[in-house]
Amino acid sequence: MHDQRVACGWRADEVPEWVESAKRGGKMFYWVVLAEDVPNRNTLLAQHIATQPKEAEPLRDTAKEIRLAKREPTGRAFLPVGHVALDVHDPEEDARLGLPSGTVWVHQLFISSALQGGGYGVATMARVESIAAQEPMNGKWMALDTLAKEVAIDMGMENIVPVTSKEEWYARQGYETYWQGPGYTYQAPDGCNIQLRVSYMKKRIDGEDARCATPSSSNT
Ligand SMILES: CC(C)(COP(=O)(O)OP(=O)(O)OC[C@H]1O[C@@H](n2cnc3c(N)ncnc32)[C@H](O)[C@@H]1OP(=O)(O)O)[C@@H](O)C(=O)NCCC(=O)NCCS
Repeated sequence: MHDQRVACGWRADEVPEWVESAKRGGKMFYWVVLAEDVPNRNTLLAQHIATQPKEAEPLRDTAKEIRLAKREPTGRAFLPVGHVALDVHDPEEDARLGLPSGTVWVHQLFISSALQGGGYGVATMARVESIAAQEPMNGKWMALDTLAKEVAIDMGMENIVPVTSKEEWYARQGYETYWQGPGYTYQAPDGCNIQLRVSYMKKRIDGEDARCATPSSSNT
């Protein structure tokens, strides 16, 4: 996980914290694995390993619980090509954002740079939405935050650098921006910390029509 976070470029130092959170039944990470019937699977895995040689050794499914719900580990070996986390936040924090308690948050989505653009990110989002809507989370809404699409960094000397945003990528998957505010901190080359604007997005995931339900009316 640490190696994949380094490849992703964000928050590799937080991995030990996430391990402890998972043990308490908090934030839970899922590996992204290519299904057996994906065309050219071995070629794709070889492409991934060529860019991430440290990941050539398969991992093994040993997880005995997910969010404290017991499961039988399969013991199967697998080569992960990405990861994603699901979490349920403090109800008061959700309420401040106008979300019902029990909203499932998706965090830290990453697909191997060798495979990006192949549809695996979209497929992963569809899969985690289905996981979040089932036991033990039984989520009705999925939420996330991501850099706002208009973010650009003023580096001084009239040098404005645009930042690639994933807001439109999530919007294409049915996520709606409901709030924007200061978010991630970026350290500019001159050492200054710059607060980057983030968009908060949400999507109804329980099959109900989102147009007919707002988060505040979905508590029942
Ligand atoms: C973001 C990420 C998960 C997407 O996964 P992916 O497998 O590369 O994406 P997919 O191949 O499933 O989706 C590609 C589609 O999105 C489109 N797309 C890509 N970036 C986009 C963007 N910034 N805005 C809008 N659309 C975008 C592509 O044009 C393509 O569309 P098409 O299918 O119509 O051709 C992946 O690129 C990644 O891990 N990036 C680094 C980490 C990161 O940014 N994570 C998200 C943090 S919020």
